[in-house]
Amino acid sequence: MSQRTLVLLKPDATRRGLIGEIISRIERKANWTVAAMELRTLDTATLEKHYGEHVGKPFYGPLMEFMASGPVVALIVEGESVIEGVRALAGKTDPLAAGPGTIRGDYATITRENLIHASDSEESAAREISIFFPGFSLV
Ligand code: CMP
Repeated sequence: MSQRTLVLLKPDATRRGLIGEIISRIERKANWTVAAMELRTLDTATLEKHYGEHVGKPFYGPLMEFMASGPVVALIVEGESVIEGVRALAGKTDPLAAGPGTIRGDYATITRENLIHASDSEESAAREISIFFPGFSLV
């Protein structure tokens, strides 16, 4: 089933020069395409909308600070089973539990600085796409 998902390459990815590597892994997958892409530093209002479900959790404050610490790359990726697929490519949230061959498993070590975010469901994808690419969700 063709889907769209919202992907963020987090500030550690831009800082460490891993944007190209991560986008390559996504682009190489058959029947997936990058439908939109933007490099930007996120403001508090955008981050509050995106991470609303995590308010009150112990990692929320440091996560917000980290996510505003430098530019991120926001992408819409489109294609066959892309929601589950990009999450599989990313690997588990905790990079030490993420398998070899996954983005987090290969390149990250700590849970906060885990390089990539990807929507976890069709509902989240629609909500997150409307936050980062407000015109796009209307298409
Ligand atoms: P992501 O799944 O993209 O969205 C929530 C983010 O919060 C997650 O990636 C991590 O960056 C961060 N996160 C989740 N759980 C923890 C945790 N236990 N400690 C620190 N950061 C976390």
